Amino acid sequence: MLTFVLKISTMDYINLLNKRYATKAMNGKVVPQEKIDDILEAIRLAPTSSGLQPFEVFVITDKEVKSKIKEIAWNQSQVTSCSHLLVFAAWDHYTEDRINHMFDLTNEIRGFKNKG
Ligand SMILES: Cc1cc2nc3c(=O)[nH]c(=O)nc-3n(C[C@H](O)[C@H](O)[C@H](O)COP(=O)(O)O)c2cc1C
Repeated sequence: MLTFVLKISTMDYINLLNKRYATKAMNGKVVPQEKIDDILEAIRLAPTSSGLQPFEVFVITDKEVKSKIKEIAWNQSQVTSCSHLLVFAAWDHYTEDRINHMFDLTNEIRGFKNKG
């Protein structure tokens, strides 16, 4: 659950984006679980075409699993030096049933109904 209320101007937001950077070197600290939960919630709420969310996210903390992934990820050090590795697994096949299931789930959660 996101626990803050964003009260910033568009300019403040642009300024924040100007300071944003992609971290490639870690400081050895473990990212607190609350932050991971917030990131996962932000991913869950991200726009994905009517909430289709055609991917799954794996949160990997196991050292051995991270090492195996590193081997097939051009040996990039950040794969093992991070505390949590988030792997986005995109759907590899789309079927009518699968898409309908996601739309039905969204309707159920949001209390919507399909039109006619
Ligand atoms: C097609 C593509 C492939 C990427 N592959 C990697 C990668 O293998 N390792 C990595 O650390 N970042 C990878 N990135 C992330 C970029 O290096 C960069 O961190 C990210 O796009 C954020 O941009 P920034 O450099 O402006 O912060 C990739 C980005 C894109 C678009």
